[in-house]
Formats: sequence, structure tokens, C-alpha cells
Amino acid sequence: MRVSVIGCGHLGIPHAAAMAELGHTVIGVDMDQTKVDRLNKGDCPIHEANLQELLNRHIPSGKLWFTTDMSEVAHCDVHFLAVGTPTAKVGHHYETSQLIRAVQTLAPNLTGPCTVIGKSTITAGTSRLLKNLLAEHAPAGESVELVWNPEFLREGRAVDDTLNPDRIVAGVFSDSGERTVREVYSKILKGGVPLFITTPATAELVKGAANAFLAMKISFINGVSDMCRQAGADAIELAEAIGIDPRIGIRGMAPGPGFGGGCLPKDLKAFAASAEELGALDMADLMWSVDRVNSSRPEAAMDLIEDALGGSVAGMRVTLWGAAFKAGTSDVRESPALALADRLTLHGAVVRVHDPQALTSALRERPGLRVAESMEESVSGSDAVVVATEWPQFAAANPFALVGRTPSPTVVDLRNVLDAAQWRRAGWAVRQLGRAFQE
Ligand SMILES: NC(=O)c1ccc[n+]([C@@H]2O[C@H](COP(=O)([O-])OP(=O)(O)OC[C@H]3O[C@@H](n4cnc5c(N)ncnc54)[C@H](O)[C@@H]3O)[C@@H](O)[C@H]2O)c1
Repeated sequence: MRVSVIGCGHLGIPHAAAMAELGHTVIGVDMDQTKVDRLNKGDCPIHEANLQELLNRHIPSGKLWFTTDMSEVAHCDVHFLAVGTPTAKVGHHYETSQLIRAVQTLAPNLTGPCTVIGKSTITAGTSRLLKNLLAEHAPAGESVELVWNPEFLREGRAVDDTLNPDRIVAGVFSDSGERTVREVYSKILKGGVPLFITTPATAELVKGAANAFLAMKISFINGVSDMCRQAGADAIELAEAIGIDPRIGIRGMAPGPGFGGGCLPKDLKAFAASAEELGALDMADLMWSVDRVNSSRPEAAMDLIEDALGGSVAGMRVTLWGAAFKAGTSDVRESPALALADRLTLHGAVVRVHDPQALTSALRERPGLRVAESMEESVSGSDAVVVATEWPQFAAANPFALVGRTPSPTVVDLRNVLDAAQWRRAGWAVRQLGRAFQE
């Protein structure tokens, strides 16, 4: 099929590349000329596993290209909407201006039957508004279909999750919308991936509910981890012991510095605001509690770091391992690591950050940030190393090789990725979030 992907960010680029991999001819559209130019040269502006390989394969073959000019997509059979829906400046709902602008720019080019498939995350009711907008502005009128097809990919695994999703959810206004979804994803569906055909309102709510639940699971174990700290209990063992119950499940339930990124924090807030608006006030309370637990994570991490440094971080040189909000991505939006860097700095620490992929985006977000290009350099002269992102490179670091670089080998592992016994053997004082301190 001839496919356009409108909005080439963390969702749109992997989606465009994956659609080309499925055999479609794909045009990615973005307003950002610099990004489009980079992409057309095969230079990927974000870090995602396997993404560069797909660009290398499909851009030179002509099956995938990028433009800022919406009129180039006029002939496409399918238009995916993948623009951003950040939190509104006032309140907690989504800001839908990117979506409205994208639809208003796309619609005048739609002169024949085609399907617009929305992938951005929205509040229940938004797709109905967009459908009306399309009918109003598209010359083809009602023969432009709209489907809402929320995206569940995990950053860091975006390509693989797009090609091998757990499920595809499609909220359709008509049978013909369903037919297009089955056709555009036919290769994936042949592999046995479940397809949920439902109403647009259900599809919109499925996405919000899924992320709200994932956020709740993280805040739950983080709240329990606070209890464990006071009780002298071990939150990791506890998580394993409760997670063995399939009704609970261990996945997505590791104590840590809180959730971040471009999705969970804003989706949780929008879901809570939506619950309020729909009159589900107890649900809204539950969601705001989840948000409060997450907001207190930098403070919980600070407690542990201050403990490790004898009570205060003032004047201490603290190395942060990690700037990305999670491993596998260069995305630093709402990153717990950067929130911690801010708090440490506020408390008088001299902070230096190392990350294998996210230093460029971290510097864009925090221009004054001190960074170190290598793990070794980051540790030199440091009073404490804090693991804030769960990169496998940090788990694989050799504590014996690093111990001589610091006058006071102290490590605080907020992600529980280090082999604590080995680090202790190498001479480090080790603190791990959720675990009792061992001398
Ligand atoms: N990032 C994820 O992992 C993920 C996962 C699932 C769902 N989502 C949802 O997908 C949507 C996009 O998220 P993202 O993380 O990719 O955002 P992003 O900010 O990384 O990308 C959005 C892109 O859209 C472009 N854009 C904005 N307005 C445009 C317009 N009118 N025409 C063309 N391009 C335009 C921007 O320049 C930007 O490149 C959001 O609704 C998000 O909640 C994201």
C-alpha cells in the first residue's frame, strides 16, 4: 500500500521504517526541515535498536522517504497520524493542537477515498472531533475514513514492538475502516497477533488505561519499597515473591527512580483528568496518588544518596550513570535521571553525567549539564557513582578496573542492575534501592 506517516518522532520514525519493512511504500512527513533532511540522508535523529538498519535498507531503495510538504502524500491509501500530544499548558489534558494542525493540513489534499489511522494518544472523544474536521476539510468528504489505532510500543524496542506487537487495537467508525486495518497490517496479523476491533471510544480509553495501569504498578512497588526501607525488608525479594502470582506478574514491577519519558507521566495525568471529567472521582483519586508517589521518587533517591555520603551531598562530586529515561533510548523527556541531577545540584552537589546514547539530547534539554564521554572518565575523582538508568553497559562495568579512579568508592544503584557482591569484593560501598545496606 502507499502509506504516509505524519509526525516523525519517537513513534513516527520507527513506524515509518517498520511499514516499509512490511512492504509498503512510505512517505514520512514532519514540519522540522532539519529532521527531514537528516532522515533522507539516512541519519537517524533518535537511538532505537534496529532502526538505523531499517533506514539503511529502505531509504536507498526508494521505499521510504521524508518530506515537509503534505501535498506529496495526496495519493496515499493510508495516512498514519503520529504527531505529539503533550500535556496542555493549562490543566492536565492533552494539547491537541499538533493533531488538529496535521489534520487541517492533510485534509485539503484528500481528493479520493483513503483511510486516516490515528496512532497518537488521545482522550476519549477526540477522534470524533477529528472525524468531523476531516469531513469538513477533505474534498473527498465522507469517503475519507478514520480509525483510531493506539500504539503500545516500548521505547528502546520500538521497531521490534511495531513489527511484533502484543496486540493491535482498532477503533473503527465503519466496516471499511476495519478492512483497511486488516490490509495494512496483514503481514503482522498472519503471524497470529490478536486484533481487537472495537469502537473509537474504547480504543482511546484502552491506551490511557494501559499506561495508567503500568504507571500504577511502578508506583505500587516504589511505595512498597519505601515501606521496606523503614522495615528493613528487601523490596526486590518481595517483588519476586508477589510477582510469581500470575494475577500480579513480575514484569514492569521493579523498584527504581520512578517512571518518565514522553508517555507514562502525561498519559497518567490525562487519564486522571479524564476520570474526573467522566465523574469517576475515586478513580481520579487513585491515579493522582500514583502520580504523587512518582513525584516523590527523586526525594527517595536523594535520601539514599545522602545516606551513602554521610548525610549531605553539599560539595560532593556525584557521577550519574544515565540521562535517558530508560535504557535503549536517547529520549530524556521527563527523565528521572535528569530530575535527580537537578535535585543533587540544588543540594550543592557537583554533578557529572555519563550516558551511552543520550548525552546529546540531555545537553539540549539542560545546556549547563557537566557530562563525561566515557564511564572511566565519569568515575575519576568522584565521591559517589549513582546508577540512574538501567543500561546493560553499567551492569557490565568492571568494578575492579574502576575502583582506583575514586578516592571513596561508593556506588548507589537505583536500578538494581549491579552485581552488588562483586562490587563489594572490589572495594566499593554499595547501596541499592529497596535493599538493606550491607557493610
Ligand atoms: N514515544 C513513544 O514511545 C510512544 C508510544 C506510544 C504512543 N505514543 C504517542 O504517539 C504520539 C507521538 O509521540 P512521540 O513520542 O513520537 O512524539 P515526538 O514529539 O517525538 O514526535 C512528534 C513529531 O511530530 C511532528 N509534528 C508536530 N506537528 C506536526 C504537523 N502538524 N505535521 C507534521 N509533523 C508534525 C514534530 O515535529 C515531531 O517530530 C503521542 O501522542 C504519544 O503519546 C508515543
